[in-house]
Amino acid sequence: MSHTVAVLVGSLRKESYNRRFALALSRLLPADFRFEFVDIGVLPLYNQDLDSQFPAAAVHFKQQIEAADALLFVTPEYNRSVPGVLKNALDWGSRPWGKSAWGGKPAAVAGTSPGAIGTALAQQHLRNILAYLDVQVLGQPEIFLQYKDGLIDADGHIGNDDTRAYLQGFADRYAAWVRQHSPR
Ligand code: FNR
Repeated sequence: MSHTVAVLVGSLRKESYNRRFALALSRLLPADFRFEFVDIGVLPLYNQDLDSQFPAAAVHFKQQIEAADALLFVTPEYNRSVPGVLKNALDWGSRPWGKSAWGGKPAAVAGTSPGAIGTALAQQHLRNILAYLDVQVLGQPEIFLQYKDGLIDADGHIGNDDTRAYLQGFADRYAAWVRQHSPR
């Protein structure tokens, strides 16, 4: 049985370190895991007036989340919190009231930043939101990666063995978590 993972990257930047990081993690997961990188940049700003008439991009986004067996959030930290573009996607997926796409999905959060705390505060805020949305987030290991030049290339190849081993430990725990909690 394969597992489809919807990957949400909290940066729209072309050269995003977090996108590289997400690619690297996807390479470390078992062969029966399939990845769908979900484009959250196409979503308009959430507006409750549209709850009764969702725009096509938001309908498609919700379908992608609903079709996924699991979620992987890889996000930068913006001003000690979650980037607005990711919060916007979380809000779209949660509406209309009673029809959230998020509930019950197994998930993990990760992030990288050139700063020393490696997105720790953004991840805490994200965990708070996901708890409310009833997403089953892996508790440990937490993963705070300080990004340095050459650490991960554009194709998600990891530049040193220690980092690869550290990330492999996370990927193994995440894979086990998804197998345990996946509804299918
Ligand atoms: C940042 N950055 C940042 N870094 C951090 O460690 N803590 C923070 O609170 C912030 N705040 C912040 C706000 C805004 C608006 C920007 C644009 C940037 C720096 C951030 O970690 C850096 O730009 C990363 O490269 C962003 O991730 P991606 O786009 O490379 O994935």
